[in-house]
Amino acid sequence: MIVELADRLKKLPPYLFVEIDNKKRKLADAGHDIISLGIGDPDLPTPKFIIDKMAQAIYEPDNHHYPLQWGVGEFRKQVSTWFKHRFDVDFDFKTEVLTLIGSKEAIGHFPLAVVNPGDVVLVPEPGYPVYNASTLFAGGESYFMPLLEKNKFLPDLDAIPADICKRAKMMFINYPNNPTGATADESFFEKVVAFAKKHQIVVVHDAAYTEVYFDQRPLSIFNVEGARDVAVEFHSLSKTFNMTGWRIGFAVGNAELIAALAKVKENVDSGQFNAIQCAATEALAHSDRVEVRALLDIYRERRDTLVEGLRSAGLDVPMPPATFYVWGHCPQGYDSMTFCGKVLEEAHVVLIPGVGFGPSGRDYFRAAVTVDVQRIKEAIERIKKLTW
Ligand SMILES: Cc1ncc(COP(=O)(O)O)c(C=O)c1O
Repeated sequence: MIVELADRLKKLPPYLFVEIDNKKRKLADAGHDIISLGIGDPDLPTPKFIIDKMAQAIYEPDNHHYPLQWGVGEFRKQVSTWFKHRFDVDFDFKTEVLTLIGSKEAIGHFPLAVVNPGDVVLVPEPGYPVYNASTLFAGGESYFMPLLEKNKFLPDLDAIPADICKRAKMMFINYPNNPTGATADESFFEKVVAFAKKHQIVVVHDAAYTEVYFDQRPLSIFNVEGARDVAVEFHSLSKTFNMTGWRIGFAVGNAELIAALAKVKENVDSGQFNAIQCAATEALAHSDRVEVRALLDIYRERRDTLVEGLRSAGLDVPMPPATFYVWGHCPQGYDSMTFCGKVLEEAHVVLIPGVGFGPSGRDYFRAAVTVDVQRIKEAIERIKKLTW
């Protein structure tokens, strides 16, 4: 390396999955059949009606130019219609809706619009690692809010020290939650909005999993009064329509905050390919189609098979109400690294160690239902043969 790399890269926490990744590769190279319950990436294809629209849109010369900065008007209009239909909330597509290159992109960029060096950002842990990374990239300081089972995996806002509340500029929350699978009710969102107003904090609600649920339909933070004064919400088509590779999502919320995010984006990207936005418009316009609704039945069957199977293997595993993640307890005497290491080595099944999402995940593992029922059953049979 001819120069020393930036300090901000050094501040990133170590990648805790490296050990599991290396073990997995070695076992696969040795010819073992590995069942991965690790990846949060749907295994099923994007529904055909979306691909058909893409095929059509790609031949349109108008779509070959630089995309418009805020995104294709038709897409943003459709977002607004979908939001009304799904959450009964109105957004002005011109000022309150912005196209994203996936929701991760906005999680990565948004702190650059709000956080000054030294500002505190409230970050849930266990949680999606990008909240902390984007905070650090903006020069901010993460204050980690533990998500504990005794609090239904919701942060205890009353436990945040007064000096932290004073220095905090922003808060990330994420429901339905990765990795715990927990959902949040109206009273939690009300509490968050009141807390944000009291301490003058911007709320970012990462809503990437609102459409992957098994019980009650998850809420938007905008279902509670006053949220528009303090919040933005990032949505994604990745999980809803099996479109992780397409890189498409959207932000809604407070017009000033949306404009601030757009300003950052104007200087780092040039938007998402218009043809993808056309296909995404079609997806949102037909989100009630049977093949889209059927995905939830598939995940439900897999979730039930996995949870019941892990329980029959003697593990303590709550039934998640949403997301395609199962957040289970490691057996007594094992932390997540040793348990996941053992399961990989002896059963050739990949589980993700909970500690990789934060210290409060130390005694948990995450399993994703992104393989078919037969493979899940095979994984369970193998795990059942282990002793601990
Ligand atoms: C909690 C959470 N937020 C955001 C994302 C990013 O999704 P995308 O960028 O595909 O919209 C993911 C992806 O796994 C996630 O788990």
